[in-house]
Amino acid sequence: MDKIRLDKYLSDLGTAGRSECRKIIRSGRVRVDGAAVTAPETKLDPSAAVVTLDGERLVWAEHHYYMMNKPAGVLTATEDRRQKTVLDLLPEELRRMGLFPVGRLDRDTRGLLLLTDDGDFAHRVISPKFAVEKMYDASVEGTLDERDAAAFAEGLVLGDGTKCRPARLEILGEGRCLVTVTEGKYHQVKRMLASRGAPVTALKRLSIGALRLPEELAEGDLAPLGEEDLCRVFMVR
Ligand code: URA
Repeated sequence: MDKIRLDKYLSDLGTAGRSECRKIIRSGRVRVDGAAVTAPETKLDPSAAVVTLDGERLVWAEHHYYMMNKPAGVLTATEDRRQKTVLDLLPEELRRMGLFPVGRLDRDTRGLLLLTDDGDFAHRVISPKFAVEKMYDASVEGTLDERDAAAFAEGLVLGDGTKCRPARLEILGEGRCLVTVTEGKYHQVKRMLASRGAPVTALKRLSIGALRLPEELAEGDLAPLGEEDLCRVFMVR
């Protein structure tokens, strides 16, 4: 792997901003392959060097992956001049990493949202070609029955002629259902349910593939994804 500067190595890991990282290095808190290094411009191979900060080993990762429990009222975007975005919810050190949301949840939709700086990963999660299942918990007005579930399974055609892939509708009770889709058309779940006379009043994404939103992750909070979590994204629930 190409060599990079030690201050960039630390800031890419989210330790702190670049100039703060330089201060940390100059203060002698960082060792590379066992030796104290105080020059921020020192070059190292991130995949091979053993770097410690205050004696703690740092683990290099080329890409970063997080899940967020997105609250309602926040845009799924990296920036917006007027409205709060999911990036605004990140702690300062993560805002510099170049993370972006994987796919889009509407402003009023809550629940599981992935953030990464890995474009290939994002493509595999979003692209209908990979058919990753996204499951939503929907509150609706009106009543749904097995005929609606059959129509979902068949593949709905929306009012404007948009053809949807076969999807799963599980009726939980009066006004509540689970919808599982493998694509992400504009307002897809809302439009699918509205087309069956059941307009959505609240929507929450519960899972992506076999990765579920942990119940203990509070709205607006973030958790890093480990390797097992990343595998779950591409597994069937
Ligand atoms: N479908 C919708 O209609 N809205 C979302 O936010 C996600 C899926």
